[in-house]
Amino acid sequence: MNESWLVLTLYSKTTDLNILSSYFDTCSLGSHDCDEKINLYFDFSSRHKVESILENINVKYKFEYDWSTENKKNWMENWKDFFTPVSINNEVIIIPDWDEKTYNHKYKIKLCPAMAFGTGHHESTQLIIQQMLYFKIHKYDSLLDLGAGSGILSILAKKMGLSKITSIDNDPVCMDNFNQNCSLSDVSGINFLTQDVHEFNDYNYDIILANIDKNNIIKILKKYQKNKTTARLILAGLLDINFSEIKENIGSCIIENHIQEGEWISISVKK
Ligand SMILES: C[S@@+](CC[C@H](N)C(=O)[O-])C[C@H]1O[C@@H](n2cnc3c(N)ncnc32)[C@H](O)[C@@H]1O
Repeated sequence: MNESWLVLTLYSKTTDLNILSSYFDTCSLGSHDCDEKINLYFDFSSRHKVESILENINVKYKFEYDWSTENKKNWMENWKDFFTPVSINNEVIIIPDWDEKTYNHKYKIKLCPAMAFGTGHHESTQLIIQQMLYFKIHKYDSLLDLGAGSGILSILAKKMGLSKITSIDNDPVCMDNFNQNCSLSDVSGINFLTQDVHEFNDYNYDIILANIDKNNIIKILKKYQKNKTTARLILAGLLDINFSEIKENIGSCIIENHIQEGEWISISVKK
């Protein structure tokens, strides 16, 4: 196994960085942004794919970039410096595993930072958590978490009292981190599957969450429409420039609401 990650650093206006980095969603393993640059982390095997994406977006956008490598162990240590607590609506607090402070939030999620996506710092995760609170999902029984990453949303749902939760992610690094985060957060009984979300066909849940990326979300939306499910589908991982394309693919479903943080949006869909 290679001991290093391949790192692509993009330099541009902060407003353009989210758009630029979204082009790499399907192959990047993680990201870290700061001021007017963002580091995207990849396996060495993805270099060819990343270079071809770079070539395409170079035509459309103005940005600089460079390549580097980072030792996996150093990455974990550096990342610890940036993992500060995240509070959402004063109800949910997400903290790193070394934080022993007392918090008065109703729901406390404790995570160990690893390569799995989902520390609560990303706007898409914060938006979907706001939706979970807004739609009072503690009143429901079952939830399907598509693109579960670190398990942050599933753990919150379990803490809210939902009994049947299935969490799916195709990234093999997620399962260990997911199990670790469940035990740190004192929850159990969540069914985690390492699998492609498009190969999972049971949509018979009260709530379906999908914080992935535009292309995966459009595929999920199409499947949701054909399925007999009556679930509420809450989507994130979308930029505001994707909204019109989502509306074009909504069929006879209804958009209940959409909320925004910076360029990121979350949309709730019902039949
Ligand atoms: C933006 S992260 C969301 C993580 C977490 N749910 C959160 O809200 O912070 C998206 C996750 O979807 C996973 N993913 C992307 N495409 C997938 C697919 N086709 N099947 C399963 N998981 C996928 C990625 O591995 C990543 O962990």
